[in-house]
Amino acid sequence: MSLLIRNGEIVTSESRYHADIFIEDETITHIGRELDAPPECEVIDASGKTIFPGFIDPHVHIYLPFMSTFAKDTHKTASVAALIGGTTTFIEMCCPSRKEDALDGYHLWKEKAAGNSACDFAFHMAVTRYDEDTESQLRRIVNDGTSSFKIFLSYKDFFGVNDDEMYQTLTLARRLGVITTAHCENAELVDRLQQKLLAQGKTGAEWHEHSRPEIIEAEGTNRFATFLETTGAEGYVVHLSCQPALDVAVQAKLRGVRLSVESVVPHFLLDKTLAEREGVEGRKYIMSPPLRDRRNHAALWAALDAGLIDTVGTDHCPFDLAQKDLGADAFTQIPNGIPGIEERVNLMYTQGVRKGRLDLHRFVDALSTKPAKLFGLFPRKGTIAVGSDADLVIFDPEYRGVISCKTQHTNNDYNGFEGYETEGRPSIVTVRGKIQVRDGEFIGEHGRGKFLAREPLGESYGR
Ligand code: URP
Ligand code: ZN
Ligand code: ZN
Repeated sequence: MSLLIRNGEIVTSESRYHADIFIEDETITHIGRELDAPPECEVIDASGKTIFPGFIDPHVHIYLPFMSTFAKDTHKTASVAALIGGTTTFIEMCCPSRKEDALDGYHLWKEKAAGNSACDFAFHMAVTRYDEDTESQLRRIVNDGTSSFKIFLSYKDFFGVNDDEMYQTLTLARRLGVITTAHCENAELVDRLQQKLLAQGKTGAEWHEHSRPEIIEAEGTNRFATFLETTGAEGYVVHLSCQPALDVAVQAKLRGVRLSVESVVPHFLLDKTLAEREGVEGRKYIMSPPLRDRRNHAALWAALDAGLIDTVGTDHCPFDLAQKDLGADAFTQIPNGIPGIEERVNLMYTQGVRKGRLDLHRFVDALSTKPAKLFGLFPRKGTIAVGSDADLVIFDPEYRGVISCKTQHTNNDYNGFEGYETEGRPSIVTVRGKIQVRDGEFIGEHGRGKFLAREPLGESYGR
């Protein structure tokens, strides 16, 4: 099987040039001008199109038992949505709760994905308690190719770890040479504030942000950074949402802490007034950390453009309106999360690159190359180079669209970005050389996606 993509403009995190790309089987084997097409080779004319490396979403939830319910997507629906949006690899959070066995959970998550994903995938392994079995279990999981951990400093008694468990996890992570990702909010303070607000009769979605204010996220971020500094481990803050948390993360970076930062699409574009809407309209926008005051947006965009925010993920986590209504009487019962795997690339391109807030190469870096480097996928993924997997996005910059739940592929009955106009879209998307999306429609093979085994990176993280 071979494929020749002619006349496109290749854009990576570092370069921009016109060339043809020749693919044999799953791999890019030649890049050059006016390449010949052998007999039987499919030829795509990409004149006027931009060719990006397949985008990587470093933070998604697909199978997720959480807050008395389950996130809505399956690996089939989420991976089709991902591909239509230009994402060719996602890294899913494997999240057994504190009460469950970590190894059983790991096998369960892998079974759910195997044979059902249309794009490639990997996992971050959540460590939700640390006991006498944890070290041997985590060693087996890392040996299996899952070389990144996840800890939650929030969600007390469910996913959350205490400081001692965080210390043990980071100490082991340092020894194994793996990176630890962390949700940074202070669980005790959130719990106290939630109880206080409910006792005052403040039960609506608008109170969610008051129960998890910016200082509580800044405290969690600072504590995580301090534990990284003390243990020498490599860390990654997920879904950073506000300036105070950004400030402590940047200070930690400046003093040499091995820390990278992710923000997610909602925190660049949406704000807390959405959660103040009446009834389920407000509940749609409940996630943690919560949507913040708009004043944070400029700081996040500037930090992203400067590379102080390293990556942009989605924290894709769909719950439908009936599920959101589980919290009609108390905001603490609203399942936390909104989807975004389908919209990330188009929104960050439209709102970032086209509006002059985000350099084009930094866009590719934050949404593809940097996640590949940090999580052990580079140069197999995250770039366009001879020898790399042929995961390519042939992007039509002239396309104009409007986001709507009526046309989305994510399994949900609303879209948090409803009505947003988009400029450009992935027109053709390949996964290891096979065309999975054509003219913006999924035309591919549902089970094509492979589990990506990743080596620990030790001292060589690409920060
Ligand atoms: O609200 C969110 N973020 N839901 C998903 C779970 C998590 O914290 O990432
Ligand atoms: Zn989280
Ligand atoms: Zn998450």
